[in-house]
Amino acid sequence: MKIGMLTSGGDCQGLNAALRGVAKSLYNEFGKDVTIYGFSDGYRGLIEGNYKEMQPRDFSDILTLGGTILGTSRESFKAMQIPLEDGTTKLDRMLKTYRDMGLDAMVILGGNGTHKTANLLSENGVNVVTLPKTIDNDLWGTEMTFGFQSAVDIATNVIDSIHSTAFSHSRVFIVEVMGHKAGWLTLHAGIASGADIIIIPEIPYNVQHIVDAIEKRSQSGKRFSILAVAEGAISKAEAKMSKKEFRIARENMKQPSISYRLADEIHAISGQEIRVTIPGHFQRGGSPCAYDRLLSSRFGTAAARLIREKKFGNMVALQNGKIVPVPLKDVAGKLKSVPPDCEIIRSARDLGLSMGD
Ligand code: F6P
Repeated sequence: MKIGMLTSGGDCQGLNAALRGVAKSLYNEFGKDVTIYGFSDGYRGLIEGNYKEMQPRDFSDILTLGGTILGTSRESFKAMQIPLEDGTTKLDRMLKTYRDMGLDAMVILGGNGTHKTANLLSENGVNVVTLPKTIDNDLWGTEMTFGFQSAVDIATNVIDSIHSTAFSHSRVFIVEVMGHKAGWLTLHAGIASGADIIIIPEIPYNVQHIVDAIEKRSQSGKRFSILAVAEGAISKAEAKMSKKEFRIARENMKQPSISYRLADEIHAISGQEIRVTIPGHFQRGGSPCAYDRLLSSRFGTAAARLIREKKFGNMVALQNGKIVPVPLKDVAGKLKSVPPDCEIIRSARDLGLSMGD
């Protein structure tokens, strides 16, 4: 049996643990009858035929290792079917590599964009099994993606540390948390770290309401306020814009990110001294937390089971505490956003947090 593996899109904690889970499971079941090929740098490796025959030892000592031993890249889904200089498409090239190598299946680890391409490969006859990774936890069909809990821990630690310096200086702090389209990471880390105001893309903000929340806190004797702001946060005015208007507005934004703009907006109304902290890719780095090591291992071994049972065209997912297969066609192109009326948002509001709306 010949199995190809690749990791695609932004990296996250737990990718190696998941690769290890798949590989150990396959080697234990099939021994010398299975050969695993690792493609370099995501779909690019499959497009260019750049791969390495893996050995069991390649998967040893990687459970706790951050990043991905295979490397990764972002290959746009939209570009997959556009003809290149020789008339072939990236899709054609991927199919050719798969067929020329005589692969029996591809194991693909990735997030939203990755799943669109994985589904395209599946529709074109490739036997695909996927694993859901991303610190954003925004993949439809699974309650949890691996990488998310590790990133929550890191963002929580950042906001924890900001508390003492915010108190010392009586300052307003904005901590910008990753997540362009979904606010899960900001919401979870914000509540876990005791942030005072949480701003996520799914709940557009009104800057006056943020200022009101800060003033209410200072009137009740609080020396500081901490805002956890998702990098994809938008104002109520922006929420009403067309896609094109929004793009132009953001292109013309002078500040390097939404947090700096928000800091300017709050300062303009309240005169408050504000500091911005952006942990950025720090949130995707380092060792996976225990939860992610376990989840990645469960996903990895479940993916190997799907291969064994020839149940292709599926993503392994966590639903009601169990690992289940979900058809790729149901996952591809769907975003799992934070429902503005969900129980976690209600908890945040019950705790007295402002969502800035
Ligand atoms: O998809 C994960 C993620 O970390 C997002 O939270 C973030 O918006 C994006 O990737 C950053 O992408 P890049 O690593 O390409 O800068």
